[in-house]
Amino acid sequence: MDRRYFLKTSAMAGAVLVFSNRPSWANSIDARVEVFVDEELGKIAPEIYGQFTEHIGGVIYDGVWVGENSRIRNQYGIRSELVERMNQIHVSIIRWPGGCFADSYDWRDGIGPAAKRPVRTNFWEGNEGAAQLHEKGPQIFEPNTFGTNEFMRFCQLTNAEPYVAANLRSLPALEFDHWVEYCNSPAGSTTLAQMRGAAGFPDPFNVKYWGVGNESWGCGGNFAPEEYASEFRRYTDWLPTYGIDLQLIGAGPNGNDIDWTHKFFEEIFTDHPYRNPHFAGWSIHHYASNLSRGKTRDWILGKGDALKFDLVDWYELLRECNRIEQIMSDQWAIMSQYDPQHHIKLVVDEYGPWYREGTELDPSHIFGQQVTVRDALATALTLDAFNRNSDKVSVATCAQLVNNLNALFLCHQDRFFATPNFYVFEMYQSHQGAKSLRAEFSASDVHYDRDGKPASFWGLNGSASRKGNIIIVTAVNPDLNKSLATQIALNGASATKATGTALFNSDMHAHNTFENPNNVKSSSLSVDVTGGMVNVTLPAASVAKVEISVA
Ligand code: AHR
Repeated sequence: MDRRYFLKTSAMAGAVLVFSNRPSWANSIDARVEVFVDEELGKIAPEIYGQFTEHIGGVIYDGVWVGENSRIRNQYGIRSELVERMNQIHVSIIRWPGGCFADSYDWRDGIGPAAKRPVRTNFWEGNEGAAQLHEKGPQIFEPNTFGTNEFMRFCQLTNAEPYVAANLRSLPALEFDHWVEYCNSPAGSTTLAQMRGAAGFPDPFNVKYWGVGNESWGCGGNFAPEEYASEFRRYTDWLPTYGIDLQLIGAGPNGNDIDWTHKFFEEIFTDHPYRNPHFAGWSIHHYASNLSRGKTRDWILGKGDALKFDLVDWYELLRECNRIEQIMSDQWAIMSQYDPQHHIKLVVDEYGPWYREGTELDPSHIFGQQVTVRDALATALTLDAFNRNSDKVSVATCAQLVNNLNALFLCHQDRFFATPNFYVFEMYQSHQGAKSLRAEFSASDVHYDRDGKPASFWGLNGSASRKGNIIIVTAVNPDLNKSLATQIALNGASATKATGTALFNSDMHAHNTFENPNNVKSSSLSVDVTGGMVNVTLPAASVAKVEISVA
């Protein structure tokens, strides 16, 4: 089976970042971080700390939406505990309504009085998990209770920017214009603005971020890149702006498919160049899904398990996630040829591990999976890669917020808990809006046996940023067995004080459950400041943050 037709195999192999062996300074310390305080790499867009929500399984219904008359605490039908937790980590942007669902969605179905909204077949009804459900709920028949108004309310409650993915496969281009008009036309100005007003939202939503289709090489229309380029022109040219600096995001490749990006940009920028200043983003999806170590490229068979895994699987998952940096670099290089000033940035709007079914908390949670400390490290190393590439990445949204792949939250009915990923986002939020700094992370590689052959993975990596007089360093120690006595030196400044936070667990399978919701969470990490440098021991298999005040 390949992913082009059913979320198919992402086959490109990426390079692994390899760090040098133990340097000569390392007598009493195992690792060193050097932060170059005067070497700024660019502002870390708060929007790279975003989340993705799709009408699939238990994400919207059960996850976000519980209904106004629910006994579950809610605001306007939206789960209060979720909103409160999201506010703790300052979710900057939320992508909706898909995913693949977006290209089957008619936005008109989700506006107007809830009782009059039509019930439609959900894009995911054919999914094996959905087909087995006894109760044919929203996983199969979409009730449209949660539509544009409800999504905007969700964004307002969480202070997040809305990022709306428009339907390019199955609605005409004029409907894209009209959705923008519904969201952004001034109060009372158009019939659609009046309909919005009648729903209690007279003021425009001012939606800036718009996806132009999703995975248009696959579920979003199965287009050839040249065809998609021509559709992209048609859907985006002369879209009404209402004075908003719209950010239109093109549907990027399957995995790291170079050909898709090349041909799309060739078509858009040569012969009859398309000059739309609002074309500002190129989407990348990277799922760490094939953990077979080269044994198969089958989309299903290649998957690993969220909870049952051994030491090799631990490193394999981290390696797969780590490929994101190579993908960003390869895609950026192609875009450089056509857009040398890089007006168009990378938008990584789906990322995370994707395991086989079986650990979802409820059968209705299609693509639901448990989240262990391994996934927390994978998420952290991905966010570090975004921080290091802050000049390239303008938006990133984790797939997906709740009851899905790399979730921050798992819940069912009135039970709710935060996964280890939540604590990563909680730690890393300090980077939002900060200036990314060049930093070198040095430690011996981790060595392990990979099917009888020696394999290695970097021993320490991370990112650094600056906000005023605070330097923020986040790092991942992937070694399952070894803590790292680490020295953090600031090139160009001197540390006066520091605080540390870390997430780790001696059990690599550790995760949270309804019964034990606080099994994995972050805790404070002891740090020492001596001679303007910071000394800290990074526990084995950990994500850590050190915040340093500088003179
Ligand atoms: O996140 C689940 C699915 O994965 C999305 O709908 C699709 O865009 C991707 O293939």
